[in-house]
Amino acid sequence: MTSQTINAAAAGTWTLGDLAVHRIGFGAMRLPQTGEALVPDAVPRDRDEAIGVLRRAIELGVNHIDTAAFYFSPLRSANELINRALAPYPDDLVIATKVGPARGPSGEWVTHATAGQLRGQVEENLRQLGRDHLDVVNLRILGTGSLAERFGALAELRDAGLIRHLGISNVIPAQLAEAQAIAPVVCVQNPYGIGMRPDQDELVRICGEQGVAFVPFYAIAATGREAGAAGGEHPEILAVARAHGVGPAQVRIAWTLHRGPHVLAIPGTGNPDHLASNVSAGALRLSEDELAALESVHRRGL
Ligand SMILES: NC(=O)c1ccc[n+]([C@@H]2O[C@H](COP(=O)([O-])OP(=O)(O)OC[C@H]3O[C@@H](n4cnc5c(N)ncnc54)[C@H](OP(=O)(O)O)[C@@H]3O)[C@@H](O)[C@H]2O)c1
Repeated sequence: MTSQTINAAAAGTWTLGDLAVHRIGFGAMRLPQTGEALVPDAVPRDRDEAIGVLRRAIELGVNHIDTAAFYFSPLRSANELINRALAPYPDDLVIATKVGPARGPSGEWVTHATAGQLRGQVEENLRQLGRDHLDVVNLRILGTGSLAERFGALAELRDAGLIRHLGISNVIPAQLAEAQAIAPVVCVQNPYGIGMRPDQDELVRICGEQGVAFVPFYAIAATGREAGAAGGEHPEILAVARAHGVGPAQVRIAWTLHRGPHVLAIPGTGNPDHLASNVSAGALRLSEDELAALESVHRRGL
């Protein structure tokens, strides 16, 4: 089987609450533009190209898509593209969105939502995605302070039936514990990858022990963050990639999946060939020696 035909099922499955997903999913942040994301002057991506990537992802077995209402460029919105490409949605598709951050109509960042403003953000996602409830909503926060009031507001929306399951993003272990005292948390979405935030290892372990999915972002982009993958790669990663006849991005994705069965990948791309390669990374099995070499890169940090 070539990397163009490997199905996301090869990565295995995980259950978010009661929703089963393949461990290789797709992040939609790259779709509204080419180049850097989340900037007011982003260059809109061709609509048909973005829609093609989403439909190809589904063909390749992806059934977990990460999005947000604040993923937009002047002419494209990730949620609108998902709706246009995929509605009526496949029964097994799980769309996870996130609330908290906010951008004004011109794309500039504005103050994060207060607890009272979260309902409006949830409804914005419902309208854009064309759904009556959201499968998973992550509360994306800044800083290490209390999230209780905002998470409590989302728990009420869950009780009201607008949301099936809750997650949290950009958090520390104390904030996970704080949220869990309010309502079940099905996933934690934090930055993590080879050499990227080795301090997250403890939270990855805690999530595994508690049956909470850990969903890394920037696993490929790493310090390139919103600007994307920077090019240039550690020799150890290149050596593992060569041994398997794959690219370094696939090694980075596979490494995250080897951190535990609860780790779910959501690589982002607007390139159909990259999409197929990323999905195929779910079939990549790294040896103990390879994992040890990659661990030393991870320990060194970026
Ligand atoms: N919770 C949060 O705060 C948060 C923050 C950021 C992102 N996220 C979510 O996490 C997802 C993943 O993050 P991300 O999209 O920024 O980063 P990523 O998946 O780590 O990397 C994306 C970057 O890598 C490139 N890339 C992807 N696959 C490649 C391949 N096979 N070969 C070479 N280059 C490749 C992409 O460019 P091409 O388009 O050219 O492939 C893009 O520049 C996002 O889409 C979003 O849904 C969440």
